[in-house]
Amino acid sequence: MRGSIAFRPLNNRSHFDGPHITRRIIPSILHRVKNFIENLTSYLYAITLISASLKKPIYGYSSLNENVKKYDFTLSVAPMLDWTDRHCRYFLRLICPSCVLYTEMVTTPAILMGRNPERYLEFSPEEQPIVLQLGGDEPEAMAKSAILAREYGYAGVNLNVGCPSPRVQKGRFGACLMKTPGLVRELADALAESGVPVSIKHRLGLDRTEDYDLLARFVETVSAGECRHFIVHARNAWLKGLSPSHNRQVPPLRWDWVSRLKTDFPTLRIELNGGILDLGSIEQQRQKVDGVMIGRAAYHQPLFLAEAEMLLGRRDRLPELDWLLQNLEGYAARWGEKLPAPRLMRHIHGLYHGRPGASSWRWQLGTATAQETAADFLRRVMVPFSRENSWMDTEA
Ligand SMILES: Cc1cc2nc3c(=O)[nH]c(=O)nc-3n(C[C@H](O)[C@H](O)[C@H](O)COP(=O)(O)O)c2cc1C
Repeated sequence: MRGSIAFRPLNNRSHFDGPHITRRIIPSILHRVKNFIENLTSYLYAITLISASLKKPIYGYSSLNENVKKYDFTLSVAPMLDWTDRHCRYFLRLICPSCVLYTEMVTTPAILMGRNPERYLEFSPEEQPIVLQLGGDEPEAMAKSAILAREYGYAGVNLNVGCPSPRVQKGRFGACLMKTPGLVRELADALAESGVPVSIKHRLGLDRTEDYDLLARFVETVSAGECRHFIVHARNAWLKGLSPSHNRQVPPLRWDWVSRLKTDFPTLRIELNGGILDLGSIEQQRQKVDGVMIGRAAYHQPLFLAEAEMLLGRRDRLPELDWLLQNLEGYAARWGEKLPAPRLMRHIHGLYHGRPGASSWRWQLGTATAQETAADFLRRVMVPFSRENSWMDTEA
């Protein structure tokens, strides 16, 4: 009667029946345990995500995006205080998909002791690759700031050794650090402890001392540490008697000193900054150095960046105005009331630079008021304007 045992109805079974335990109860317990473990994993994952998002700013970004994998520093937009804020950088990124963007200079006390460090550190994921520029003179503060930069997902940290403003001089950082290459090396090494790529941005020298050997010794001393990446604003900083803006115009530009540095230190990454205003200069200089950094021209004539990308073979035509403004409107809508129209519009004045319709463009932008959000203003005024006045119909 083997068959009768095998096919005995279930309800006739005792709970202590051996086959019933192995076939039904144990699998059921195992199933529940498995479910519990799976759910626990999901709960823990959710808790991790929630706590991470609580720590992170709304538009902050904690890991590097696709752009970062592609960046190569051939072309970058300079750090510019009060100009290259996050809204400006978002706009420039639309125009220049692959260039490296630098933040405005942020001092280490502002990040470490300020009431609202997120204000300086947050950025939108689209801005990547983005480098945080730091100002300061204390290695420990640099190390801590670089760790924060890593947590926020910056593609690099850059030390400011070029700013000549009186306020910065009072803090004994910026350009006056050129007097103490040993300290610059310590600061760069402290930044490097974070594992984030480090660069320094410096001048040729200080005041009226025009001495290439001194510059070379500076680079030699600093590069004996961890830093391999130097961005050279190719003029001296005059610490006395010149305002910061005159310090970007008066001291003579010496691009040849930067290319000489590249010849003397071939294994270092040496980039040129200062006075690059046309495509011919980019073409010529990129044969001699590792990259060019563009400042004022990128801000005043943003399409120059798109043309530079075309020169580098990274895009085949200018971005369409309609597309640009609609994208910008989408970005502004993310901010809503927090982004009044003038705060974004001030960065796009140069979009029509040198093209027919430039004055009408600027006039329209000038009608933006803080009572309206950037998104509403773009939708109401600038998007319709762009449809009627695309620069694609005109030549520069
Ligand atoms: C408004 C403004 C703000 C600047 N702020 C910074 C800054 O925060 N950090 C820095 O290293 N350089 C700063 N610079 C200097 C630029 O990064 C760049 O070195 C300089 O403008 C020379 O490049 P360019 O001739 O292409 O403009 C600033 C320049 C301008 C015009």
